[in-house]
Amino acid sequence: MENPKINICLAGVTGWVGRALYNEINVSDDLNLISAVSRKQAGKHISDLFNSDGTGIMIDKSVPDALEKKCDVLIDYTSPLIVKENVLLAISRKVNVVIGTSGLSDSDFEEINDAAVKNRVGVLAAGNFSITAVLLQHFAQIAVKYVPNWEIFDYATEHKPDAPSGTTRELATRLANIQKPTIHYPIDETIGDKSSRGATVGGMQLHSVRLPGFNFSFEIIFGLHNERLSIRHDSGNGAEPYVNGTLLAVRKVSSFIGLKRGLDTILNI
Ligand SMILES: NC(=O)c1ccc[n+]([C@@H]2O[C@H](COP(=O)([O-])OP(=O)(O)OC[C@H]3O[C@@H](n4cnc5c(N)ncnc54)[C@H](OP(=O)(O)O)[C@@H]3O)[C@@H](O)[C@H]2O)c1
Repeated sequence: MENPKINICLAGVTGWVGRALYNEINVSDDLNLISAVSRKQAGKHISDLFNSDGTGIMIDKSVPDALEKKCDVLIDYTSPLIVKENVLLAISRKVNVVIGTSGLSDSDFEEINDAAVKNRVGVLAAGNFSITAVLLQHFAQIAVKYVPNWEIFDYATEHKPDAPSGTTRELATRLANIQKPTIHYPIDETIGDKSSRGATVGGMQLHSVRLPGFNFSFEIIFGLHNERLSIRHDSGNGAEPYVNGTLLAVRKVSSFIGLKRGLDTILNI
């Protein structure tokens, strides 16, 4: 017997990533878009809006409205201002969730995990769903075992509202579970403005640059006496790198209970 399709609610369908996800879901055999969310385009038929074949569903203005239609997985690529609310609502309605949106803190993730376990659904959140970004995470996790000194940087457009990025927060949390860096001059004793040493997450320093000319890049710099190692990832202008990882997560998220963080948790790296 054929496997049933996975029914999806896509929040943020008109966004940079959401639109690329819509295109791929629309041509896939095993995924079925049930509902989609955008405040500005609410009430329009999605296929008219994107001039595409396929689903004639009408866009909803909010996740609560969209979840009135029964689905298996909510994909959230919206805004740091609304993501937590969306995710907790979906979990309370026994819907699995894939979180692309940035801005959630470690304590938010604890709350999300508790709710997911209680409601027996799966949640997969990744600060970065691109496979080459996942490789950076992997290489950094090896490097911290050998080099005790590092700091992390992210570079994004001038419009990115949240800092540090979801990608670098996630990296810091992972590295902190393995090893914390040696901070040679205590941050609290910095002479001048302490904030110029960046944000401390998981015992390490994170620095965020927001300027026109960047799309999204992140970098970890390791230092030893008379040598440095930089590992850097640069995203291009298209959202394709995030699509495959996100849809892989959609296909796997109902196979476990609770929160998993990072695409590597469902890859064989
Ligand atoms: N994990 C990853 O790999 C990854 C990759 C890229 C981006 N991101 C993150 O994903 C998020 C979205 O990025 P993007 O570049 O696609 O953003 P974007 O282009 O600004 O799109 C945001 C989408 O969400 C909708 N939206 C925003 N606020 C909303 C609200 N309060 N309620 C309902 N819908 C809302 C927008 O439509 P309306 O304005 O019409 O509501 C739009 O469809 C960001 O947090 C970004 O940092 C993560």
